[in-house]
Amino acid sequence: MLKRRDLLKAVGGLAISTGLVTPWHAWGQQVSPQPLSIPPLLRGEAVNGVNRYRLRVQRGTSRFLPGLTTPTFGINGDFLGPTLHLRRGEQVQLQVTNNLGAPTTMHWHGMHLPVVADGGPHQEIADGGVWEPAFTVLQPGATCWYHSHLLNRTGEQVYQGLAGMIIIEDEDTHRDGIPSTYGVDDIPLVIQDRAFNVDGSFRYVGMHMDVMTGMFGDTILVNGTLSPEFAPTTSRVRFRLLNGSNARTYTLAFDDARPFTMIASDGGLLAAPLALTSLELAPAERAEIVVDFSDGRPVNLVSLPMAADSPSQPRGMMGNMHPMNNNAFHLLSLRPAAALQRSPALPVQLTQLERIEASEAVVERQLILTMAMGMGMGMGRGRGAAGGMMGAGASFFINGQAMDMGVINQHVLAGDTEIWELVNDSMMMHPFHIHHGQFQLLSRNGRSPAAQEAGFKDTVKVGPGESVRFIMRFQHFSDAQRPYMYHCHILEHEDNGMMGQFIVT
Ligand code: C2O
Ligand code: CU
Ligand code: CU
Repeated sequence: MLKRRDLLKAVGGLAISTGLVTPWHAWGQQVSPQPLSIPPLLRGEAVNGVNRYRLRVQRGTSRFLPGLTTPTFGINGDFLGPTLHLRRGEQVQLQVTNNLGAPTTMHWHGMHLPVVADGGPHQEIADGGVWEPAFTVLQPGATCWYHSHLLNRTGEQVYQGLAGMIIIEDEDTHRDGIPSTYGVDDIPLVIQDRAFNVDGSFRYVGMHMDVMTGMFGDTILVNGTLSPEFAPTTSRVRFRLLNGSNARTYTLAFDDARPFTMIASDGGLLAAPLALTSLELAPAERAEIVVDFSDGRPVNLVSLPMAADSPSQPRGMMGNMHPMNNNAFHLLSLRPAAALQRSPALPVQLTQLERIEASEAVVERQLILTMAMGMGMGMGRGRGAAGGMMGAGASFFINGQAMDMGVINQHVLAGDTEIWELVNDSMMMHPFHIHHGQFQLLSRNGRSPAAQEAGFKDTVKVGPGESVRFIMRFQHFSDAQRPYMYHCHILEHEDNGMMGQFIVT
């Protein structure tokens, strides 16, 4: 564990120097703290008992760097999208209009939906097209998100800005003691890293390494704000953390080492508040934390260097090829207001968390994650014009197979509870994500999951050499034609083969 003094030294720089790219600040630019942008909340318009939400996918320009503009993609705006506000039990009708000048899709990550409304690669929206998925919100309150899921182009489109947060609310997530006023004491934090070209445009996948490790940037944006600052006005604030980065894992902590309270994982509330001093968040993972500012002192949210013995740490030659997550860096400045409104204490129990018993499972599957290494990597089988980055063929596999839209890899019977074992036979961590619903971890390397992974999840880190078992109920929906996806959420891995399809009938 780092001492505070060392940490402050390490966190001194605003941007991250990876040694491989020129961080924008090396051009002599300086940026003073800017107010954290809070994405607007999009509530539905009620029409005959159905709540309608309109999303327009479009191109725009953003100003991140002083004096430079960046061409970006956005939803109802120039970069990223509004926060969708859904309530458990409500009937939702979305209208997604694609004005991008290119095809796209929109996936509701973490949501329990019929596959026709899922927004995976099979629900492509042509340029100029409109897609209108409808569903009922069945699941408990949670922080989810939405993003492009275009085949072979997810990484690029998310990087350009096609992502936003979803807040699902229910009685528990909105109850007394849990801060719930959006933009005041309930704050979304979409954490992303980006690399820039000298003209201000985003730099996306310029070299082989960017595909192999996934695309790492040297500059942090939170909700699209560079060098963000937020001023709490209440003694406790709930932050909804979303790692919206393509590949980077963060080890979140405060630079004064203050403890914070984790209240929710990907799928919603934990059974009880969990006191932590740091929290690792892989791409696509979410966590809700409550932070105490009653001492009135300014503090910074930072990312700590990944511990050498972290299961997420790359192994073997991968460890030497990219500094990956070995640096500490700054994420968000927090400067409490002079007078803070007092927040009530958190409830002792957050929700009734039902455990899915292993004995309920009727099927067990094993998925083995591998990647091809070496100079020939990515230079194999071409995919033509619609292929992966840099004309690369598949380099990432699940059970030896690369993603193929025409192949159904798994067939699940509707209503069944299944155990999936994920085995990582590669030298880097893969955050595994499955569509359709939320699971519970049974074990990591034969041991019970840590408390921060004990709630409902839809994305789980699988470190090199690790084996992770989860249990999931495949209920409510059935569709013989259309598959759901499972994949690594390092988007360059997903785009280059590490994805599979399952149908539920
Ligand atoms: Cu976040 Cu298949 O997606
Ligand atoms: Cu998803
Ligand atoms: Cu991966």
